[in-house]
Amino acid sequence: MNIRTGLFALSLLLAALPAAAQDAPAAAEPAKEAPAKSEAPAKPSAPTYSRKGADTCLNCHDDNPVVMAIFSTKHAQPKNPNTPFGHGQLQCEACHGPGGAHTGRVPRGEKRPPVVYFGRNTVTPVEQQNAMCTTCHNPKAGEWHASAHRDSDVGCADCHQSHVARDPVLYKATQGDVCGTCHEVQKQNMLLPFAHPLRDQQMGCTGCHSPHGSPTQAALKKDTVNDTCYTCHADKRGPFLWEHQPVSEDCGLCHQPHGSVHPGVGHGARRGLCELPLAGARLEPSLRPPADALRVPHA
Ligand code: HEC
Ligand code: HEC
Ligand code: HEC
Ligand code: HEC
Ligand code: HEC
Ligand code: HEC
Ligand code: HEC
Ligand code: HEC
Repeated sequence: MNIRTGLFALSLLLAALPAAAQDAPAAAEPAKEAPAKSEAPAKPSAPTYSRKGADTCLNCHDDNPVVMAIFSTKHAQPKNPNTPFGHGQLQCEACHGPGGAHTGRVPRGEKRPPVVYFGRNTVTPVEQQNAMCTTCHNPKAGEWHASAHRDSDVGCADCHQSHVARDPVLYKATQGDVCGTCHEVQKQNMLLPFAHPLRDQQMGCTGCHSPHGSPTQAALKKDTVNDTCYTCHADKRGPFLWEHQPVSEDCGLCHQPHGSVHPGVGHGARRGLCELPLAGARLEPSLRPPADALRVPHA
């Protein structure tokens, strides 16, 4: 079975959930009960849910502070019927999948059957991990489907943490570090002397990028590099009396969006700035700026 049919099978399985969800307990508080002694191991062919939802899981996992922190997140809202802990929802198993077999008694010498587990070093395929989240979330589905992250098997949980009150990737102060675990070059450039003010926490990578993907190159927030820049630098849009063509063409011809060691031309400038049009590599001769426009780069 390939990944896609696996995903399809999973989505069928999940589509059939509401019936199962009826039986799930509504308890959202991490209640501590005596362990249910009679939980029978499920047949591998028919995944089942635990008897008492979160209460069953916490019989064994309530000593782990990471696990318990789920109750301080936006996902653990009993009053919001759409969250995993809302009435009729599957609680822990909304994300970790059917845990009936996992919670059962494990015969000596055998391994405890796993639940869906997240991250890079697990047996759960990324597509299956993501499918747990996308049953409830549709992060602009079309774009996620086309995104370089999805194509490269980056999972929702590679960026999002679910067992913390403040998911670091959602906050400017910490987002750069999350993205930087995989995009070290861009993160380092953002720390160069001349760069956008990420380290001052005025903006994040998402000032310019759509993390869930976009139809543009480099998953930019707007259709073009320039339109992305104009969202904050509207004064550079023009129209100007003396249009400097490279400017309306691509801000990136002169500026490094991620930062640079080259000062003096506004931070983030590319090296060899003024020779650029003559180098011919990226610009047509017709785009050479008129001499008087060079004094003021943008107009
Ligand atoms: C009877 C005890 C028991 C119950 C009940 C139980 N677990 Fe576990 N769980 C374990 C043990 C032990 C491990 C450690 C891995 C192993 O031995 O396979 C584990 C591992 C896990 C892991 C992987 C953690 C890691 O570090 O790899 C997840 C996720 C998990 N359990 C979720 C759940 C969920 C969700 C429930 C409720 C549906 C649940 N567990 C109920 C005993 C239990
Ligand atoms: C919103 C989805 C979601 C819900 C609800 C949820 N988890 Fe998790 N769980 C995750 C993700 C994602 C991870 C991987 C770590 C992370 O990203 O925070 C994880 C990690 C874990 C781990 C491994 C912890 C460790 O120390 O590494 C255990 C055990 C676990 N969950 C058990 C539970 C139990 C028990 C519940 C219910 C009380 C629960 N989870 C509810 C998504 C969820
Ligand atoms: C049962 C449905 C359900 C599942 C499954 C689920 N979520 Fe959510 N999630 C919600 C709802 C509802 C909210 C909105 C809570 C609010 O805004 O009050 C939410 C909120 C969030 C937020 C915003 C949190 C914040 O602090 O602002 C993120 C990020 C998120 N979910 C990611 C995930 C990821 C990643 C997974 C899979 C590991 C997942 N969700 C699984 C229903 C779900
Ligand atoms: C490359 C990292 C990355 C991946 C992968 C990713 N996200 Fe996100 N997600 C983010 C960032 C960053 C934001 C904040 C968006 C912003 O600031 O514009 C976000 C926002 C969200 C929100 C809205 C939170 C809010 O408060 O508005 C939800 C829900 C969410 N993501 C769910 C998912 C799901 C589900 C997946 C997997 C299908 C996923 N994300 C994959 C980085 C990521
Ligand atoms: C778990 C690793 C990982 C994390 C975390 C991650 N990325 Fe990526 N990212 C990748 C991979 C893999 C690719 C595709 C291959 C490449 O371009 O390097 C990619 C591609 C991209 C691209 C190019 C997209 C395209 O269409 O060409 C951008 C932009 C990007 N990521 C931004 C971000 C941002 C912003 C964050 C944080 C919100 C982030 N990434 C977090 C792994 C990651
Ligand atoms: C000021 C806007 C801006 C910010 C902030 C920004 N980027 Fe970019 N990023 C761009 C542009 C524009 C491109 C396309 C570059 C090109 O085509 O020359 C790009 C391209 C990328 C690419 C594709 C590979 C490459 O370098 O061309 C990755 C990956 C990436 N950015 C990651 C990040 C990460 C991670 C952060 C945060 C640490 C970040 N970006 C912050 C504007 C930005
Ligand atoms: C989310 C908002 C935002 C976006 C989008 C954005 N910038 Fe900026 N930019 C800023 C902020 C904030 C500063 C810092 C201004 C300051 O220090 O006064 C800045 C500063 C600059 C500077 C240096 C200004 C100086 O005084 O040294 C240049 C050059 C620049 N941006 C170019 C770009 C380019 C090119 C793009 C598109 C790839 C872009 N910006 C996209 C917010 C943004
Ligand atoms: C032909 C090269 C070139 C192009 C293309 C270009 N710039 Fe500049 N930019 C410069 C130079 C040179 C400076 C320094 C001017 C100075 O110090 O007076 C500068 C300075 C800036 C500054 C800081 C000073 C100010 O005027 O606010 C910002 C912001 C900026 N550019 C944004 C942009 C944006 C947005 C674009 C695309 C619409 C763009 N630039 C395209 C060469 C260029």
